[in-house]
Amino acid sequence: MKITKAVIPAAGLGTRVLPATKSMPKEMLPIVDKPAIQYIVEEAVQSGITDILIIANRGKGLIEDHFDRAPELEQKLTGSADKQAILEEVISISRLANIYFVRQKETKGLGHAVSCARSFVGQEPFAVLYGDDVIIGDDPACGQLIRAYEEFGKGVLGVKQVSPEAITKYSSLKVDPIRGPYFHCTDMIEKPSPDQILSLYSVLGRCVLTPEIFDILDRTPPGAAGEIQLTDAMRSLARSSGMIAVDFSGTRYDMGNKLGILQATVEVALQHPQVGDDFRRYLKQLAQNL
Ligand code: UTP
Repeated sequence: MKITKAVIPAAGLGTRVLPATKSMPKEMLPIVDKPAIQYIVEEAVQSGITDILIIANRGKGLIEDHFDRAPELEQKLTGSADKQAILEEVISISRLANIYFVRQKETKGLGHAVSCARSFVGQEPFAVLYGDDVIIGDDPACGQLIRAYEEFGKGVLGVKQVSPEAITKYSSLKVDPIRGPYFHCTDMIEKPSPDQILSLYSVLGRCVLTPEIFDILDRTPPGAAGEIQLTDAMRSLARSSGMIAVDFSGTRYDMGNKLGILQATVEVALQHPQVGDDFRRYLKQLAQNL
């Protein structure tokens, strides 16, 4: 079955980026001139997704407004001869996909957020793109996972290796190589203690799930940090039917922590057609004085 639906959980409290996220979702933090969530929606659309459900809570209005038309702004830009390109860009954001919203009424974890997508998803496989993980590359990461689903017919995890020091803050997967970037995954654990590490491969920001995940999520008790963890539900799936892990290509930026936001800003700014050259010169100058 062709995958056309995606879910973007964006209802976390973003406590690692306070106070910026006190009243604004971290998913709206900009990388140069675009909010993180727009990069994610664009990746989904480039991967063949037509319908997107954003799980939000406070600050929902900001995200909703960003993907809506903005008549006053558009009228103002229409009147300026030199603003036609940005006018078209502003309008095109509202046409990217069919975007729906649902509120996660209590912040009970990523697994709980995904379970809010049950009626949107119905009986189809669907992609999940974590709202604070921006992945930039020539081949959209979500599309790489969808191709793996089409080949293997199982749930798919977007993975990367992380450092031994970092793995205890992420998930750790039991994997066996298939070929190239593809692995079988038969077990996983969220935030492992050093003696529980299964490998340095961790789920980073993308997966493709089958609708059976919803019944599993309903039975999943709170785990690490007292939250309903998506990893715990996916572990049941991995242990019973197996999942496929894809070591995706592309650079992943964690917009949920301060260093990740700075890395994304600097790297995207260096490639930016309007400010890239000036910014490179500025950085070189700055580096001489460090
Ligand atoms: P994180 O665990 O990184 O988000 O969740 P957080 O809870 O905001 O992080 P802290 O407070 O800085 O530690 C990964 C993704 O899942 C969403 C987040 O918005 C983020 O995009 N999420 C998390 C939800 O939608 N609901 C939740 O209850 C928790």
